[in-house]
Amino acid sequence: MNIALVGATGNIGREIARQALARGHQVTAIVRRETDLPAELDGAQLAVAALDDTDALAAVIAGHDVLASAFGPRPGDAPSQVGAVIAHLTDAARQAGVHRLVVVGGAGSLEVAPGVQLVDTPTFPDAYKPVALAHREALKVLQATDDLDWTFYSPAAEIGPGPQRGGFRTQARNFLVGDDGHSRISYADYADAFVSEIETPQYLRQIATVAY
Ligand SMILES: NC(=O)c1ccc[n+]([C@@H]2O[C@H](COP(=O)([O-])OP(=O)(O)OC[C@H]3O[C@@H](n4cnc5c(N)ncnc54)[C@H](OP(=O)(O)O)[C@@H]3O)[C@@H](O)[C@H]2O)c1
Repeated sequence: MNIALVGATGNIGREIARQALARGHQVTAIVRRETDLPAELDGAQLAVAALDDTDALAAVIAGHDVLASAFGPRPGDAPSQVGAVIAHLTDAARQAGVHRLVVVGGAGSLEVAPGVQLVDTPTFPDAYKPVALAHREALKVLQATDDLDWTFYSPAAEIGPGPQRGGFRTQARNFLVGDDGHSRISYADYADAFVSEIETPQYLRQIATVAY
């Protein structure tokens, strides 16, 4: 498949790009400035476009099968960008005629009980709240989008380096906790699930998650 990917230079995006290339897909990394991609992403195409420039974005994603995003605000940047970026990506996808949009979401928007999102629970860490609330705004943008096949794919609460060991679970809507009481996933296993969702859509127009 032809995959256009925003955020390919980040922790999660780099692993998504690496696995997509390894699985034989073509990847266009959409970056904000000319840059050298890591050697592991040899074979990816580079395209420069600002995420708030819908025309430029539409021009670089035209002809792709899917627009994927692992965008995240860098330290010091306003978390509130997340919702605005997703709005620009939906506009650009529409303009370019790319109907599939798969984005890395936030675990805070998953439900822990009917109608209760993780971010609204009393023990949700204050430090993660601004970005979790920004992801919720992004999810609202997508939920109001009925002309694109989007998926808001939230990692488990904890995501980080680690082996690609498989054995993870995926599900729509609800927060997933493992037998050890933790909600965890490695970058590698999350990316495996994310690329699989691109290849074989399972969670169209839904929030879903991946965890052990
Ligand atoms: N449990 C959870 O719910 C959970 C946990 C971790 C992460 N996440 C979410 O997952 C996403 C990715 O996280 P991450 O840790 O991989 O992030 P990261 O390592 O900080 O990478 C962020 C990516 O976004 C890009 N980016 C940032 N600002 C940009 C801009 N103005 N224009 C173009 N590109 C820009 C960065 O590009 P540059 O290299 O140009 O800066 C980079 O590729 C984030 O949305 C984060 O909130 C969720």
